[in-house]
Amino acid sequence: MIFAGIVAGGSGTRIKNADKPKQFIEIGGIPILIRTIRAFEDIGEIERIYVGINADWYDYADKLLDEFDVSTKRVRLVTGGSDRNGTVLNILREITGIFGVNKGDVLITHDAVRPFVSEKIIRDNIECALNTAACGTYIPSDDTVIRTTDGLTVTENLPRRELMRAQTPQTFEISTLCSCIKKLGDDKLALLTDTCGILTECGYPIHIVKGEPMNFKITTDHDLMIAGMMALG
Ligand code: CTP
Repeated sequence: MIFAGIVAGGSGTRIKNADKPKQFIEIGGIPILIRTIRAFEDIGEIERIYVGINADWYDYADKLLDEFDVSTKRVRLVTGGSDRNGTVLNILREITGIFGVNKGDVLITHDAVRPFVSEKIIRDNIECALNTAACGTYIPSDDTVIRTTDGLTVTENLPRRELMRAQTPQTFEISTLCSCIKKLGDDKLALLTDTCGILTECGYPIHIVKGEPMNFKITTDHDLMIAGMMALG
């Protein structure tokens, strides 16, 4: 079975003067979170879509789903964790608690604040994770990236052709992810902030799915303005 996990448990502190976390802000009259959920609802193969929400915003999100006619048959809310990875793990716990741990089941995780994810990216992720243990979505870096140790001078110019920027989805074969979590134990797990890192720590390669510029993360007010213009078409 294929499950989606949309992480929407953050508070969006880099967006200034907002009265709610950025995933709830409307662009083109529709909240960002609802747009992201709809992108996954469009993929018929996805059995259930779990959305991780901060406990303080759970009731708000619940009402929002109702207001925008999101089917509660397929879309379920889960309480988010203290960081992004914690939210993913809560979603995983919910899925395995209900459906068990079955070889070949796939969890496709995605940031709620990347509403312009394409059907191609979602399908490529699912296809890749069905044939491997894990994959992530990456896009070549157009800019040269430098490393600095003091924030004032360039320590090192990094080779642009070897660098990519990470987007989401990140997608996992559920039984492999669960066995890695078990193997690492709580102490090691607490040190890992990225779900792909759990697989890397256990020696699994993370396969690369091609991302798209449109699949950007709404992080700042500038991103929000661009997203608003894109939503209007
Ligand atoms: N996220 C989550 N649970 C958390 C923290 C983050 O599900 N405890 C989610 C966010 O809701 C978002 C995604 O992870 O969809 C990417 O994180 P980011 O852009 O950093 O979101 P925020 O943490 O909300 O933003 P900021 O860092 O500006 O506060």
